[in-house]
Amino acid sequence: MAFTDGKALSEGVDKSLTARSSMSLANLLWVRNFFWDGRSPGLEEQAVFPLTNEHEMGQSLEASVSKLRTSTLYPPLFKSAFGSDIISENQIRKALAQFERTLISADSNYDKYLAGNYKPSEQEQHGMDLFQNAPNAEKLIRGANCEHCHGGPKTFKELFHNNGLDSVVTDAGREKFTSQPTDRGRFRVPTLRNIALTAPYMHDGRFTTLEDVLDHYNEHIRQSPTLSSFLQNISNKKGSKNLELTKSEKTDIISFLHMLTDSAFITNPEFSDPHQTLKTQ
Ligand code: HEC
Repeated sequence: MAFTDGKALSEGVDKSLTARSSMSLANLLWVRNFFWDGRSPGLEEQAVFPLTNEHEMGQSLEASVSKLRTSTLYPPLFKSAFGSDIISENQIRKALAQFERTLISADSNYDKYLAGNYKPSEQEQHGMDLFQNAPNAEKLIRGANCEHCHGGPKTFKELFHNNGLDSVVTDAGREKFTSQPTDRGRFRVPTLRNIALTAPYMHDGRFTTLEDVLDHYNEHIRQSPTLSSFLQNISNKKGSKNLELTKSEKTDIISFLHMLTDSAFITNPEFSDPHQTLKTQ
């Protein structure tokens, strides 16, 4: 599942559910603001939240340190990484963050295409064009305008947007962190890499399939004061408020999204269960 858990919301140590869906961990090296609302500016800081949050892993850093210190497995590993086997809170953060920085997904068919080593099928090419184009009914350019937010090789821009999920916002999103009403219902634009593997979708996991996601962008954008202007009155049909993609255009975009699946990433032994790997070494 490309470092997600396949659930809309996740169960923590106390059996309660997290408030939001677990996010993809691919290509965090290029992310500047972590979590759906961007409240954490660095991976070292971010790592502390899930470790200590009472509804997630619910253990103080001190307790983690003392457990790791008394394990037989970890002190030598810390020694080889940091030169000392006295494990500290800071080293735990650094170790986790540095591991996460290695989770680079850059070998999908889309990457091969960018490097000139893969020829997309007709359907994939058409989906890619639609994904990238802004529609212009007068010039007969068809498009889905995804590029505005999910553009470039990273497939996300460092932006926060309200992408029209609700007319009455149920989760204030970035506003909770900035206290700015203009941020109400805005969330970080997530990467789309390995997106075919990371259902369900959106911050609350409300969509089960990519078809649902395309239906959302095509015909169910909800108006609200902070709705992104990139999702308003943009259409393939003059005068329409909806995108007006055809069924086969939506399928083509999904086939492009499948080009973002990176089998080298999801089968990389360096990312597998470390206990398993250590046992077989
Ligand atoms: C205005 C910016 C914007 C545009 C345009 C946009 N998106 Fe998004 N997209 C977002 C944001 C923000 C989220 C996260 C929203 C949330 O969960 O509340 C998101 C989430 C998604 C997700 C779910 C990701 C996940 O990990 O759960 C998919 C899939 C997606 N977008 C695909 C698309 C496609 C396909 C298009 C074009 C039809 C598109 N997006 C257009 C901003 C945008």
